[in-house]
Amino acid sequence: MNAIELIKKKRENQKLSVDEIRFLINNYAKGKIPDYQFSALLMAIFLNGMSVNETAALTEAMLNSGIIINLDSIAGAKVDKHSTGGVGDKTSLILAPIVAAAGVNVPMISGRGLGHTGGTLDKLDAIPGFRTDVNLTQYKNLIKKCGMVLASQTKNIVPADKLMYALRDVTATVESIPLITGSIMSKKLAEGIDGLVLDIKTGSGAFMKELKDAKALAKSLINTAKTFDKNVIGIITDMNQPLGNYIGNWLEVVESVEALQGKDIPDLMTVTNKLAGAMIYLGGKASSIDEGVEVSKEMIKNGKAYDKFLEVVKLQKGDISVLKDLSKYPKSKFSEKIVASRSGYLKEVDNYEVGMSALELGAGRLTKDDIIEPKAGIIFNPKIGDKIKKGEIIATLFTDNKKGIDSAKNRIEKALKYSSEVVAKPKLIKAILR
Ligand code: URA
Repeated sequence: MNAIELIKKKRENQKLSVDEIRFLINNYAKGKIPDYQFSALLMAIFLNGMSVNETAALTEAMLNSGIIINLDSIAGAKVDKHSTGGVGDKTSLILAPIVAAAGVNVPMISGRGLGHTGGTLDKLDAIPGFRTDVNLTQYKNLIKKCGMVLASQTKNIVPADKLMYALRDVTATVESIPLITGSIMSKKLAEGIDGLVLDIKTGSGAFMKELKDAKALAKSLINTAKTFDKNVIGIITDMNQPLGNYIGNWLEVVESVEALQGKDIPDLMTVTNKLAGAMIYLGGKASSIDEGVEVSKEMIKNGKAYDKFLEVVKLQKGDISVLKDLSKYPKSKFSEKIVASRSGYLKEVDNYEVGMSALELGAGRLTKDDIIEPKAGIIFNPKIGDKIKKGEIIATLFTDNKKGIDSAKNRIEKALKYSSEVVAKPKLIKAILR
């Protein structure tokens, strides 16, 4: 076998065999296939797709590029959540402590930002001192001690995804159902989970813009999870505007802390409670998703989720003093306000453009080697359906890089559409799939 012939085969829309897929993934993970050849393969997969069997083989090959963690020695259910990616999507930071506080173990291995979307690891990196690079013993000990861990893929866990993820991010090959399925499911299967809740985003800020594509992705993810005998619930949620109001790594930590302290952020908490509720249900601590939602709300109300968050941050070497006093964090050098150009009801937000604006301010990567500025980001005030007055502040931009401001401002101004007629608010939870 050689990479050129296999790339050609996929380019010609032929099916790759299990052995051929294993050959490609193993050799890329070992550094024997260079980035330029693997980029061509990714684009061929992106354009021609993969069958159910090819997707399962891809997931398995990626999974077997590293170790598979066994958590059988830890009592109780282990349940995780994974999102297909969005703008302002900080639900992981809020729901992991909620679910752990409710008595379900959460072994969470997260990824970095991808394309215009943010990543949980980049958000955790914004907390001074926080270590996501835990080894296997620490990973298990953290779950035993506080019922959760927020970890990165170490070089032993799905190394193939780590490499492929970074390459896809900069080769315009992210929005592919088989590649997203392989990426998410290999990481989740390696974690040692019993159950998984999938947050499949749809809308202008998601990789799957159309509901039908989100449903196809959900089906692909759920089928793959079942192949590996995992309990799974897929929830399709709205990504036509930022979730919550803060976008950017430190800003999203701030909003998560406020949510954990009980601030009502309606869209963010509706989605977070639903996902947490499904996890609590899968973990056997509620008899339905709705009952799980009530448990989730209770964990916020009684302060146990916030305490759990502080506990895990402390155990993972993060500085909790900045979480207790958010004003202690350093400030961006520049900030700029954007005001509404006209009065009317907010009709549409091109959320991809909002995500790209955050990247240009320094909150994400435009190339593989870019360094993220944790303070950079956007406070984005309005929600679709809101009545806006001309001159009202729509967004505030934060950055240390003055050059990014004009472009970000331009993108956001163009991303908003107004109507003189009343506009209905989008439905946040679009479907629940089993
Ligand atoms: N999240 C992942 O972990 N991988 C993807 O490919 C997309 C979202």
